[in-house]
Amino acid sequence: MGVVDDVIREKLHSHVVLIRQISEYIINSGGKRLRPALVILSAGAFGYTGKFHYNLAAVVEFIHTATLLHDDVVDESKMRRNKETANALFGNAASVLVGDFLYSRAFQMMVEVDSMRVMQVLADATNTIAEGEVLQLLNCRDPDVTEENYLRVIRFKTAKLFEAASRLGAILGKAAPGEERAMAIYGMHLGTAFQLIDDMLDYSSNSQDIGKNLGDDLAEGKPTLPLIHAMRVGTSEQAATIRKAIENGGKDGFEPVLNVIQNTTALDYAKECAKKEAAAAIAAISILPESENKQCLIQLADFSVTRNH
Ligand code: IPE
Ligand code: IPE
Ligand code: MG
Ligand code: MG
Repeated sequence: MGVVDDVIREKLHSHVVLIRQISEYIINSGGKRLRPALVILSAGAFGYTGKFHYNLAAVVEFIHTATLLHDDVVDESKMRRNKETANALFGNAASVLVGDFLYSRAFQMMVEVDSMRVMQVLADATNTIAEGEVLQLLNCRDPDVTEENYLRVIRFKTAKLFEAASRLGAILGKAAPGEERAMAIYGMHLGTAFQLIDDMLDYSSNSQDIGKNLGDDLAEGKPTLPLIHAMRVGTSEQAATIRKAIENGGKDGFEPVLNVIQNTTALDYAKECAKKEAAAAIAAISILPESENKQCLIQLADFSVTRNH
């Protein structure tokens, strides 16, 4: 991961000072670097001995970072990684444009690997993420969004990049087709569990731990799983509180909604769903031969559910 960080830093270079300022600002703020870790672990699990896994790990982190720059503009978020968001500090226009810079830098870097399969996986993933974000936009302020529809959004916007990261290591390591598929399925379930918990933490954590402001999802009128489930199992009064808050968006509905969330099984239900996804991720890679890397992948699946940051 140290090498990955060196690649990230080297590839952030631009002659345009503002690009360096913003991209270094967000990259230096940290982040868990989960997606690059997936590329490294997956490549290692298949005995890859080259150097391209460092590049591709940096590529997926760049794509992730670009989506965060764009996402915080769309969500009007003010805090990320325990710091002011780039949009709060540098403005929306600069954030969007530097996000574009990072996307296109990622594409320059993936071309260096000179593999059509690698480019196909990353082009598809990036396209699917954009579809997911637009689908989510359509769901905003709509309290009738179904659990199925919600799951589709998170598979697209989040799980797809986890899937790509896991698959890329397998491609580099020349895994058998069944093993490559297993890694893709692992990543897809892991990413789904990860986003399910992210959406739970928006109602159950504190801003210090998650490094973001709580209630950003509700402020955008996002019908996430805790809300969908609370409307299903709550009293008609509780359901009406949530409906109204989703329809209106904004910060005012947060306290009453939190009260409903805490007095229903909403968070337990979301956590159970995440646990099932993590278990499915672990089951998918049971066909891999035992290795330290495989154990790390299993631990990552556990972490995606137990995490509080
Ligand atoms: C944030 O992802 C966006 C989601 C998919 C929930 P991470 O929680 O991996 O963000 P960082 O990189 O660790 O900050
Ligand atoms: C994650 O969605 C954004 C993408 C995966 C593109 P969220 O809006 O839930 O992420 P946070 O909570 O802002 O990190
Ligand atoms: Mg967001
Ligand atoms: Mg979130």
